[in-house]
Amino acid sequence: MSIGRRKDEHLELCAREDVGFAHKSTLLEAVELLHDALPGLADGELDTRVVLFEKTLRAPIVLAGMTGGSERAASVNHQLARIAEECGYGFGLGSQRPMLACPDDASYLVRSVAPTTLLLGNLGAVQARLAGPERVAELARAVGADAMCIHLNVAQELVQPGGDRDFSGLADTFAELVVHLPIPVVAKETGCGLSPRTAARLASLGVRHVDVSGAGGTSWVAVETLRAREHDDQRALGELLRDWGIPTAAAISFARAASPSFETVLGSGGIQTGLDAARAIALGADAVAIARPVLIALDRGGPAEARAYLQRIERELRAVMLLTGSRSLAHLRRAPRVLGPTLRAWLTPLSG
Ligand SMILES: Cc1cc2nc3c(=O)[nH]c(=O)nc-3n(C[C@H](O)[C@H](O)[C@H](O)COP(=O)(O)O)c2cc1C
Repeated sequence: MSIGRRKDEHLELCAREDVGFAHKSTLLEAVELLHDALPGLADGELDTRVVLFEKTLRAPIVLAGMTGGSERAASVNHQLARIAEECGYGFGLGSQRPMLACPDDASYLVRSVAPTTLLLGNLGAVQARLAGPERVAELARAVGADAMCIHLNVAQELVQPGGDRDFSGLADTFAELVVHLPIPVVAKETGCGLSPRTAARLASLGVRHVDVSGAGGTSWVAVETLRAREHDDQRALGELLRDWGIPTAAAISFARAASPSFETVLGSGGIQTGLDAARAIALGADAVAIARPVLIALDRGGPAEARAYLQRIERELRAVMLLTGSRSLAHLRRAPRVLGPTLRAWLTPLSG
């Protein structure tokens, strides 16, 4: 099957089918931010801006990388990149693997509609290893990326019929890319999260930016299980591993505690509301990244619905900032909180 066909199937399944985690949540609901009845603030005083990769976002929201490599993907990328430009959010491209074979692929060329937006390029770590740093730098240059996400998706590949099986040497790949790329490298998971050990390893390799993409939102194992209908072994493996991964709340905490620490932590995986976003930021995320909920809104009601959905998240985030007396995102990060027992159990590796 061509990569373009596969990308279209991914869009269709993510927009229309039940591909969330079955039982595991992000555990963001286990973060209770304490109510401040005397916030001493007016709504107009709230400052939601954040600087990421030397670009100022009006709100700490990134439309996470999803697609590219087909006509439908081109339409999704252009519509969402335009919204990001208008609203002052960041925007991520999906895997640029098709550009390795077809460098002129226009589905990734969103600078015409998003000239000033924070733009994140994207390639799988296995493809980056095979392509080498020069070609990865060329992919970034070709789209005008401000930073390059190198994604990790071992669980997805294992369940995908014909997926990658060789994940060796990827640490060396990150170490090389960090040295050779002229723009920042972001180590990005895709829904299974980063453990304390992985985060520490990445940090020791010189990686300074991560997108934790934890468990509790889109399950890529679930997506590939649906695609593996005619492959009994792959489907059974997918059914077993649907909920594999580290909940987003724990993954953000692990990344923030990693030593040496990261300059940028993007909190993603199951962010659906402004309250989720506020909790992610309180745990240490600089901004949140959102994928499937934006795609669902776009699929349902076009760019108007996707924009309205994102603006709702912003309104909800502002409400929580006011309710916690947080004038800025830096204040929100220090907001008093109570953590529920399941999240505290997940965080025990940090106290050892
Ligand atoms: C349709 C779709 C396609 C995706 N494709 C990519 C991709 O090419 N590269 C990547 O790094 N992540 C990809 N992702 C993963 C997202 O960037 C994100 O990490 C993950 O879906 C969790 O976020 P969510 O729960 O908000 O969907 C994709 C997600 C969706 C929904």
